[in-house]
Amino acid sequence: MVPLGQVFEKLARVVRQVSREYDKQVNLVITGAETEIDKLIVEELSDPLMHIIRNSVDHGIEDRDGRMRLGKPAVGTIALNAYQKGNHVVIKIEDDGAGMDPEVFRAAVIRKKLLSADEAVLLSDKELFAYVFMAGFTTKETANAISGRGMGMDIVKSNIAKLGGVVDITSEVGIGTILTITLPITLAIIRVLILEVASRVMCIPLASVEEVIVLEETLVRRIDGREVMTHRGASLPILRLAELFGFDRKQPDENVPKKDIDRATSRAVAEGDARVLSARAFVVVASVASRRTGIVVDHLVGQQDIVIKALGATLRRVRGIAGATDLGDQRVGLVLDVAALVEETGSSGDRTPVAMQGATG
Ligand SMILES: Nc1ncnc2c1ncn2[C@@H]1O[C@H](COP(=O)(O)OP(=O)(O)OP(=O)(O)O)[C@@H](O)[C@H]1O
Ligand SMILES: [Mg+2]
Repeated sequence: MVPLGQVFEKLARVVRQVSREYDKQVNLVITGAETEIDKLIVEELSDPLMHIIRNSVDHGIEDRDGRMRLGKPAVGTIALNAYQKGNHVVIKIEDDGAGMDPEVFRAAVIRKKLLSADEAVLLSDKELFAYVFMAGFTTKETANAISGRGMGMDIVKSNIAKLGGVVDITSEVGIGTILTITLPITLAIIRVLILEVASRVMCIPLASVEEVIVLEETLVRRIDGREVMTHRGASLPILRLAELFGFDRKQPDENVPKKDIDRATSRAVAEGDARVLSARAFVVVASVASRRTGIVVDHLVGQQDIVIKALGATLRRVRGIAGATDLGDQRVGLVLDVAALVEETGSSGDRTPVAMQGATG
């Protein structure tokens, strides 16, 4: 763990240099430099932060005359603020400049033929600001060698995403822009098994997986309204993820004739695809301490090292989900909270042999 001040010092130099370049007067105010974060994260932060600061001077802060005309203080301010919040570090970069004008964004979206005028009219301010993160997007009409290529914020976003972080924008015309970066305090990388449930991608930490077996529906019984199967001489509570999360069970696969599934399977095998398509379901036997649960999934996709990301406010309240992860190839997977899932199936998930459970076993 190292203090963020290390990278902030570099940024002070960048502000001095860039404001001279653009002939603008800027005062950089730093707070929270003592906030600590994983050394590996700090090393990856200097490029994204430098780009954001450069944008603040370039697009945000107006020149002296412009600011005077608007009745703003002649010298612009960029405030860099860091603080810890739970398991995360928040870095805010705030400028008191021109802000982002939704109408300028709308015009740029149309000019670049990303959307038709009819479509662009329907976008909210928030949807328009999201274009900041698109590769090649700029509101500048002409580009030169050092600026206006729109190569910047897209890279900032993907670099922050690789660290398990997220970037948010709030901006108001004439008032300024705030970029908020939320990062995990450490780069805890975990290995997961990637699964598919009702066509959704989910991940389960490999450390909690004991084994994976094919689901034999005939071996599943109901005890006190809960599904249980016998596995290795003990009863194993069954948890169907699609039901638990209320996923739509109708899968594309269901409409595909068996013949086609078989053909797809042999093709998948022939192509060495880790995901062997199959009409059957699997049971991932997961454990926490001495308690086990059989988690029913549709497909096994493979294994991967991931960084867990924090979830937005809505998903944070969903039991059984620990976080999300960027799987590359533009897919996002939800990471299961095995401890919560095991708890969900009640206390019958211990290794008590079936014979010892009397009549219910
Ligand atoms: N602090 C800011 N204030 C106002 N607008 C901003 C700010 N930061 C970014 N923008 C807007 O976001 C757009 C995209 O930024 P990005 O850095 O990706 O491209 P660019 O700065 O236009 O080009 P380049 O970085 O190649 O010079 C900018 O064109 C600008 O309209
Ligand atoms: Mg830029």
